[in-house]
Amino acid sequence: MNNAIEAYDLRKSYGQVKALDGIDLSVEKGKILGVLGPNGAGKTTLVKILTTLTHPDSGRCLVAGFDVVSQARQVREKIGLTGQTTAIQEELTGAENLEIMARLYHMPKKAAKLKALELLERFDLVDAKDRAAKTYSGGMKRRLDLAASLVGSPSILFLDEPTTGLDPRARIGMWKVIENLVGGGTTLLLTTQYLDEADELADEIIVIDKGKIIAKGTSDELKRNIGGDVLNVQVAHENDLTEVSLALEKLAAATATISREELIVRVGVGSRGSAALAEALRELDRLQISIADISLRRPSLDDVFLSLTGHAPTEGANPQGSNVGRGRKKSSDER
Ligand SMILES: Nc1ncnc2c1ncn2[C@@H]1O[C@H](COP(=O)(O)OP(=O)(O)O)[C@@H](O)[C@H]1O
Ligand SMILES: [Mg+2]
Repeated sequence: MNNAIEAYDLRKSYGQVKALDGIDLSVEKGKILGVLGPNGAGKTTLVKILTTLTHPDSGRCLVAGFDVVSQARQVREKIGLTGQTTAIQEELTGAENLEIMARLYHMPKKAAKLKALELLERFDLVDAKDRAAKTYSGGMKRRLDLAASLVGSPSILFLDEPTTGLDPRARIGMWKVIENLVGGGTTLLLTTQYLDEADELADEIIVIDKGKIIAKGTSDELKRNIGGDVLNVQVAHENDLTEVSLALEKLAAATATISREELIVRVGVGSRGSAALAEALRELDRLQISIADISLRRPSLDDVFLSLTGHAPTEGANPQGSNVGRGRKKSSDER
């Protein structure tokens, strides 16, 4: 079997909430699947099922060829998990955390020490190895957590939102670490709310919303499916959003999406690119709407998400708004 992970029609409800509403997926050995979705989409529920921490209501799932329900023990021997809540013991040093983990895998004391050191080196934590983990920065804690999940040398690794809450520099550090892992042949399923993260790391992406897969493919395929260029208009005043959206829809003969957080209206303009841009400028000028920014660009994954769901991936979910902010910056750079 060439697939490290296979899932068929996974369903799981919590009361009235359908956390997973029929998920099918497969991940080839050595590949990275990005599971992209906003808060509450069902990402953690999916990871919990695949890592045997909870049972699906129905559906079937094989990890490393073993059934996650009836062969949970065998599955656990093959996998590593870094979840949204950390497994690190704050009072212990980085080295101690990893040694204890290694002892849990029945390694003799000396081997455990060696394993810990190897991982500390790999994750750039050697200088901090004798400090209590509670003194670590957010990025260091994530790296230690990831190191801990690798102690058992898993062939399949699950990372649930590995960079949520990290600052941009720490995020990029984490990406490098993750890229190296997969270079070593590990299969990875990674969940994220960040489009740029899925774009950067994943071989294949599934986009989920409300427990359902709403799109899948490579990042390029997802972007191509939108087709053509996207016109972005950022208004100076929130009150103008609706009027701008109507004007752009007329001009583009397509449905516009509004991001209230960013004060941006986006619309696909197909191959009409610069002509549409010029027309939009004239029309907005005629309507006397003051704009903060206007740009034309290739669709980003943000646009993919908006066009699929009608809402921004992190609307109301991400207090730092980092990916939304990044998306916007990118658009003005690319003008
Ligand atoms: N233990 C639980 N009890 C009740 N509802 C839950 C539980 N776990 C998740 N949910 C609900 O299921 C949905 C999916 O949650 P989750 O899988 O955590 O999404 P994500 O990780 O994408 O943010 C949400 O509506 C959430 O509130
Ligand atoms: Mg989650």
